[in-house]
Amino acid sequence: MLITFEGIDGCGKSTQIRLLEQWLRENNIHFSLFREPGGTNLSETIRSMLLNSGVDMNPVTELLLFSAARSQLISEKVKPLLEEGRVVILDRFYDSTTAYQGYGRNSAALDQIEALNKLAGHNLVPDITFYLKIELEEAERRTRNDFKDRMEKSGREFFQKVIDGFDRISKNNPRFQILDATLPPDMIHNQVREFLKTFL
Ligand code: TYD
Repeated sequence: MLITFEGIDGCGKSTQIRLLEQWLRENNIHFSLFREPGGTNLSETIRSMLLNSGVDMNPVTELLLFSAARSQLISEKVKPLLEEGRVVILDRFYDSTTAYQGYGRNSAALDQIEALNKLAGHNLVPDITFYLKIELEEAERRTRNDFKDRMEKSGREFFQKVIDGFDRISKNNPRFQILDATLPPDMIHNQVREFLKTFL
């Protein structure tokens, strides 16, 4: 079973993943967790290139590097684990590419991005995708004092387009569970658990 988490920087994704990890451990449910971009030696190397704010990167190059990191993680780790029947949690997956590179950067036409996502995702489709929805102002308030990587330095207009992208792809897609990221973390976690109970 493949569970993914999505949302813009500052939405509280990491907190929710940590709470879910705890709950799965308490219930003796084995799982593997990976972050994107990352999760293999090669993908972590690509991650450091992508997030390095000293690098000036063409948008198509960026799109291809996120996809390259993904292809390696999915083929090397995620696919084999799913074939063994494991629960796999991904901290971001190709919906981030659609929202950030597609809607945010306009790196390529959406149908091209969809094709690339299929290729780099080795045709995997998540069973459930939790989208932590938050307004730009609130996310900015939460991340005001954080160190900013190359992606996070992309500016307000970019992030508003990313939010619009996530809103659009999550709407009317039964794979998505849209969570109100402004609720207290425990309350959001309870909702995550409720959704997952029907699967696990
Ligand atoms: P990370 O520090 O993991 O951010 P977060 O904790 O918010 O997940 O950095 C990943 C960054 O890369 C984040 O800004 C989102 C961006 N990203 C893309 O632009 N496209 C993608 O396909 C993925 C997976 C991430």
